[in-house]
Amino acid sequence: MAKRVVLAYSGGLDTSVAVRWMIENYGVEVITVACNLGQEGDWEGLQAKAFAAGAVEAVVVDCREEFARDFLAPALKANALYEGRYPLVSALSRPVIVRHLVAAARYHGAEAVAHGCTGKGNDQVRFEVATRALAPDLEILAPVRNWGMTREMSIEYAEAHHIPVLATKEKLYSIDDNLWGRAIECGEMEDPWARPPEGVWSMTTVRASEAREVTVGFEHGVPVSIDDERMPLHELVVELNDVVGAYGWGRLDMVENRRVGIKSRETYEAPGALALIEAHKDLESITLERDTMHEKQRLEGRFADLVYDGMWYSPLKEALDAFVDSTQRFVTGEVRLRLEPGRCYVVGRRSPHSLYDYGLATYDAADTFNHADSEGFVKLWGLGIQTWAATQSAASPSSPSTTATPAPGE
Ligand code: ARG
Repeated sequence: MAKRVVLAYSGGLDTSVAVRWMIENYGVEVITVACNLGQEGDWEGLQAKAFAAGAVEAVVVDCREEFARDFLAPALKANALYEGRYPLVSALSRPVIVRHLVAAARYHGAEAVAHGCTGKGNDQVRFEVATRALAPDLEILAPVRNWGMTREMSIEYAEAHHIPVLATKEKLYSIDDNLWGRAIECGEMEDPWARPPEGVWSMTTVRASEAREVTVGFEHGVPVSIDDERMPLHELVVELNDVVGAYGWGRLDMVENRRVGIKSRETYEAPGALALIEAHKDLESITLERDTMHEKQRLEGRFADLVYDGMWYSPLKEALDAFVDSTQRFVTGEVRLRLEPGRCYVVGRRSPHSLYDYGLATYDAADTFNHADSEGFVKLWGLGIQTWAATQSAASPSSPSTTATPAPGE
């Protein structure tokens, strides 16, 4: 058994109890690592809490810039949405946390890392697979999965050991938030028919009623400005969360398939992430050549599955990143988003590398398209079908000519 353990620390009930529980049950020294990923947090209070629970060292890392640059930007370039909807809020945060856990383990000479996940979720998968990818030699401890304590027993344990926790025995929701959005689970929402109570939303409470537009500028697939004001990505996301969230847009309510085989009712709010993905996809519509765009769309689902399933650090994910990056060379330009109460949608896009050709598209006098070229093209396009229709289709019982419904009055 390891002598020193680095624990991913949130300051919540489970990870606070885990500090003391590992000291008592495994005889280890515990170093906590808390990552600021843009969530609400009292970072000094959190350090004090870790020490009060018995940690020998309590590290807090501001990961916001790194999280945006190395995790959110690649996900946005890939328009990553799990099951076509969920922008991977929690899934994207685990690999950055693991990067810092492993770094702290090396620095402090620890032989193990630990997390506070239960056995039913995706996050244990992400923590452990990412750790094995970055540091195959480290042991991984999952005290919460093993201790067999109910929530009430954990609270009693904390009280008995003078660990300051804010938790009440009736915990309503499980919340995980960062720059990319907020996940809210449990409580009455465990009934998938029950409407989420209004009180679960915080980023998307309606605060604006006057319609407005925002222009998002992109360079090589990455957002760089809002209304011509340049800002680093982690600040831009915060700004857009605020601007778009104020219109009450960016909520998701879905039953999702966890990696461990459980269907789970999830609610999310991710106004900035969802608006950026809409805008980015739209900019790609004028800057990506047709086949490239279609192939990219096919791979985007695979990318999202890999991230969801804890495979951030994997050779396939790395190869997909290379493909996506190569597609983003000309994804530079601007997208206009219109905001109205409950709505956010694209109303314009432009790019210095746009493939949209007015002369080819227009039906007016400026038309440069050679109409005569189409005749031969369409004839050859349909030649195979014509041959099939003449020789085989007519003989088939399901032939359109024999199954067509007569028009009324015929
Ligand atoms: N279902 C989401 C996911 O797997 C969110 C998980 C949120 N985690 C939490 N501890 N509440 O990515």
